[in-house]
Amino acid sequence: MARYGLIADIHGNREALAAALAALDERGAERIVCLGDIVGYNADPDECVALVRKRCSVSIAGNHELIGLGRLDFTRCSNKAEYALRRTRRTLGKEAAEFLKKLPDSHVLEPGVVLVHGGVRDVQQYMANPAHIAENAKFLAADFPGARVCFFGHSHEQKVYEVIRDVKRDVDAVDVQEVAIDGQVSLRKENTYFINPGSVDASRKKRHKLAECALFDSAFNTVQFLRVRYDAAATEAKAAAFGYRIDPLTDRLYTLRRRIGARF
Ligand SMILES: [Fe+2]
Ligand SMILES: [Fe+2]
Repeated sequence: MARYGLIADIHGNREALAAALAALDERGAERIVCLGDIVGYNADPDECVALVRKRCSVSIAGNHELIGLGRLDFTRCSNKAEYALRRTRRTLGKEAAEFLKKLPDSHVLEPGVVLVHGGVRDVQQYMANPAHIAENAKFLAADFPGARVCFFGHSHEQKVYEVIRDVKRDVDAVDVQEVAIDGQVSLRKENTYFINPGSVDASRKKRHKLAECALFDSAFNTVQFLRVRYDAAATEAKAAAFGYRIDPLTDRLYTLRRRIGARF
C-alpha cells in the first residue's frame, strides 16, 4: 500500500510534466505511475520519456506510443494527432524508442488495482460515458478477477465512475454513476471504480491550461485530484516552432485523404 501519484497523457509537454511532478512531490507521493501517452502533440517527446523513466516506478503504453513506434496506424487519429505523431516519429531518439517498446499494455499496481490507458481491451477506446464503463466493467471482471479500482487515461478528463453491481436484476447487470469530484473522493470497498486522473498536457483544452494529475492513497482508499499551472505559452511556442502544429491546408488535405482512403 502506498500514496501513489498518478499521471497520464503527457503528450511531449515537458513544462506541464515538471509542474505535475512538483505538485505530487509536494503532496507526499511515494510512487509515481504513468498511464501512457507520454509522447505526441508537443515538442519534447525525448525529454518527457527521460523524465518518466527517471521518476515513475511504473508506466504503461498509450496509443500515442504505439502509433509513434509504428505498431498502430493513423486510422483512429484526428488530423492534429496524426500530424504531430508523424513529427514525433521523425524526432524520437533511439533510447526513448527502446524504452517505449518495452512498456506493457496494462499493469496490476497492487492486488485489485489495475492500470490501463484507453479501454480495458482496446487502447484506443474512449471510456467517456456510463455505457462505456458498464461494458468495460465486464471486461475488467473477466480479465482481472477481483479488481476494484481501474485507473485509465486517454479521454483527458478527470473522472470518477462508480460501478454498483445490481444483484436484484441480474448477476451481470451493473449500475454506473459518475461521482462528483470535489476535493477528495472516498472509495467504498463494496463497489468498483474507474478513475481518470486527467491529462497532464492541457495544450488542446479550451477551458483551462492546467496540468492535471491525482493522488491515490491505497491504505485509506482516497483519491485527490490536482490542477496546476505551467508555462503553457512556452509549450505552444515550441510546438509551433518545431513543426508539431498542423496548418489549415494540410488539415484539409488529411481530411480529403481520409475520405478517399488514399495513402499519401
Ligand atoms: Fe492522450
Ligand atoms: Fe491516448
